[in-house]
Amino acid sequence: MELKDAITSRRSVKIFDHDMHIDDEALYEALKLSTDAPNHGMREPWRIVHVSKDRLGDMSRSVSRFAFRNEPEKQQSHFDAVTKLGGLLVMIVKRDPRQKENLENHLAFGTYAQNLMLLLYEAGIGTCWKSPEYIFSPKVRKVLGVQADEDLVGFLYLTDLEGKIPPKKPRHTESFISEY
Ligand SMILES: Cc1cc2nc3c(=O)[nH]c(=O)nc-3n(C[C@H](O)[C@H](O)[C@H](O)COP(=O)(O)O)c2cc1C
Repeated sequence: MELKDAITSRRSVKIFDHDMHIDDEALYEALKLSTDAPNHGMREPWRIVHVSKDRLGDMSRSVSRFAFRNEPEKQQSHFDAVTKLGGLLVMIVKRDPRQKENLENHLAFGTYAQNLMLLLYEAGIGTCWKSPEYIFSPKVRKVLGVQADEDLVGFLYLTDLEGKIPPKKPRHTESFISEY
């Protein structure tokens, strides 16, 4: 796939209406290749926890107990959606006490993530980055093993590309550029 095609045709897949399976070998290859992302000081500030298909239900129960406390319907709908996925990635960034380095770490993670989403798309694996409010919940962080010096920046839902892919939301390609 041409890089330009990958960039313009990749979409966030948001419909999980059938049981999905992905190629875990292709996933691991993409996870490793994506580390060629730029990162200042070679701090490689990313950490990924892979939740494989057979562990999705357990993960959903552990997380939703705290994410949706006393909301059994939301817990069930999380379980129903998540267990259809082909897998899920917990995305973690190394926090830095220094302001500039911390910013660099988070920006570097974004470059890693875009590499990853494009490589997975090329390998036939769909993605959607999810950043629900509960990524800040101390108890959710704890069940996912996020350390005190790390930020949980979301979940990457892994899907096949067989379902409905949403249409592209148009971008404003001119208005954000001005001449100095
Ligand atoms: C940092 C980040 C967080 C996101 N969080 C969510 C989210 O919580 N829920 C969601 O449905 N999509 C989320 N998305 C996906 C965007 O909403 C999606 O990229 C946008 O709708 C444009 O669609 P496209 O990726 O198909 O071009 C997130 C994307 C990014 C980069």
